[in-house]
Amino acid sequence: MMATDNALHHLGPMDGPLLLFGGPYGNLEALTAIRNEAERRQIPAQRIICTGDLTAYCASPFESVEMTRDWGIHVVMGNCEEALADKAIDCGCGFDQGSVCAQLSESWFGYTNSRITPAQRNWMRTLPRSLRFTFGAHSFHVVHGAPSLINKFIFPSTPDGEKKRELALAAADSVIGGHSGIPFGQRIGQQFWLNTGVIGLPANDGTPDGWYLLLEWKGKRICASWHRLAYDYQKAGRVMQDAGVDTGYARALSTGLWPSLDVLPPHEKAQQGNPINPPALWLT
Ligand SMILES: [Fe+2]
Repeated sequence: MMATDNALHHLGPMDGPLLLFGGPYGNLEALTAIRNEAERRQIPAQRIICTGDLTAYCASPFESVEMTRDWGIHVVMGNCEEALADKAIDCGCGFDQGSVCAQLSESWFGYTNSRITPAQRNWMRTLPRSLRFTFGAHSFHVVHGAPSLINKFIFPSTPDGEKKRELALAAADSVIGGHSGIPFGQRIGQQFWLNTGVIGLPANDGTPDGWYLLLEWKGKRICASWHRLAYDYQKAGRVMQDAGVDTGYARALSTGLWPSLDVLPPHEKAQQGNPINPPALWLT
């Protein structure tokens, strides 16, 4: 959906720190940890945005949706919400047919699909495909994948020209996305591309941590910074095994390594297992 369609989903001006994260993926332990982290930082639900994919690889889809709704944060529709709301036959990630990702998704999507209630599907259907807000004079456009497509993967190595085309569609100073699972921020010309990272799976960097993004004033400037989320990944893995959702993703929670690299460009493939540490980025 293009920026011009999003007037109804403008959150208006924000005046305090914002916490943004993506991909809880049905990982209730990670979701509990990020909620506790927001409480510790005293950031209220009105200033928290999830970039979508509440339910996917992990074993607590129903509970994760219920916790998110109870928390009352803003949520952008991810391809998983779109697929579940439509009762689609797969997750809508856009994996190539026959790929390892596609085979694994058949397993977890079937499990998730069987546990989501009609009321939860109806709620997913109401989620906005994008959100806009301002922080000072800086405008933000939040999507799941990219402004042009809900399941478009934008990685650090995605060419600047591709990012520029997407940034032009958003008509905002910064675009914030999720979906690709790798936290990062880049200046592209006069605009910025920010990815929140995800909390429900590690970042394929050999550590079990998830990631989230903070936007805050530092003096008179806006700073974007990425932070690790440590949580009880061993419990999350046990819950998956107990539920019979024992795909390679259960092991990934502890190894920090994705079971399939099908979606990754060569640059990100080569980074597998290298602990990441995205530097903070000044937006103004
Ligand atoms: Fe996604």
